[in-house]
Amino acid sequence: MENPFKYGGVVRRPYFADREDELKELLREMENLGRVFLLSPRRYGKTCLLFHLMDHLQNLGFGVAYLDLNACPDLRRFAEAFTQQTSKSLESNTEKLLKVFAGLKRLRPKVSVGTDGALTASVELAADEKDAIPALLEGMHNAEALARKSGKKLIVIIDEFSDLLKYDGTTVEKAMRSVIQQQDHVGYVFSGSEETMMRGMVQDKKRAFYRMGRMMELGPINRDAYAAFILRWFEKGFCRVERRDLEHVFEIGVDVPYNIQRICHILWEKARGEKEIHLPMIEETPYIIAQQDAPHFESLWSATSQPQKTLLVALAGETDPKPFSKAFQLTHGIGPSSSIKASLDSLTKKGILYRTKKGAYRFPDKFMMFWILALSTDRGKTS
Ligand SMILES: Nc1ncnc2c1ncn2[C@@H]1O[C@H](COP(=O)(O)OP(=O)(O)OP(=O)(O)O)[C@@H](O)[C@H]1O
Ligand SMILES: [Mg+2]
Repeated sequence: MENPFKYGGVVRRPYFADREDELKELLREMENLGRVFLLSPRRYGKTCLLFHLMDHLQNLGFGVAYLDLNACPDLRRFAEAFTQQTSKSLESNTEKLLKVFAGLKRLRPKVSVGTDGALTASVELAADEKDAIPALLEGMHNAEALARKSGKKLIVIIDEFSDLLKYDGTTVEKAMRSVIQQQDHVGYVFSGSEETMMRGMVQDKKRAFYRMGRMMELGPINRDAYAAFILRWFEKGFCRVERRDLEHVFEIGVDVPYNIQRICHILWEKARGEKEIHLPMIEETPYIIAQQDAPHFESLWSATSQPQKTLLVALAGETDPKPFSKAFQLTHGIGPSSSIKASLDSLTKKGILYRTKKGAYRFPDKFMMFWILALSTDRGKTS
């Protein structure tokens, strides 16, 4: 049996866990052609949830277009991708699609022949880069017109949406807003992990998307539902796991779905020989993952100064470190607070640490913390 705990890409059914409530909420919003700004820290499962949502929407007869701004390096690509994806989601016949594309002014149709001889229709910007915004707007008008004509609701999902600013500052936002407000056959989900940028877009009065939609914060997967999913798979693999031991999995993985999947992936491999998962096996997993990811951590580590390294070791060694407290500084022989502050700022900039809303400093990649622990205590070297 293949390992059912997948990570590193889009996870779909039957390997996709829970998210029932979040799915229902998004479906309700899309039924009403709402505009939702989906926000969560990295690796919480936004993209997986969006693909799950797409599968449902398609089954319900919606047209669905998915765009990832990471894959669109410039506005030209965004305009082309927007037009292509939205049109294809509403018109599957290649000939008709080419006719639609031929009716556009700023984008021209392109036909390519696949190895199997099948024709594929796409569009490319007809003029130069300056025309990219008008082309995008034309694509958006085209999407609305096609949706109206087909009698279908169209949902446009834009992933990594905070990347929008990389194109043209806030000019694109303004242009998009004016069209979105005229549309009544299209719903949108804008998804991103850059909290300040996403919030800035929706909550700043001076910005174009101000109050244009609602913010939906994606939290961790419900523990009970996730545990039921994990137990079901282990049961299928004829392996015993205690529900209460899974609490340790959630604690170690700080409820980040990516972390939980990685831990369970390792446990599954171990279970092939053992047929039973014990607590020490669970406690060993973060060190195994830390070893697997060591090359990445080593390069981050080598880019830090000696005082920063000392501080990282001190932070990794405590459950709730208070780096500005006298006790912390005395225990670890570091200080004063001003130089600790400088190190924390630099480590945050490098992405090795992040500052929580309450002002605490944590590792965004929990496994790096275990890697540092192993480094400083000689633990995990044998695994
Ligand atoms: N519902 C789920 N069921 C199973 N695994 C999941 C689920 N959601 C997320 N994961 C795991 O977490 C990993 C990261 O998920 P995903 O890429 O969707 O996160 P993201 O929030 O889009 O991250 P980023 O902000 O970095 O784009 C997936 O590869 C998968 O292993
Ligand atoms: Mg994502």
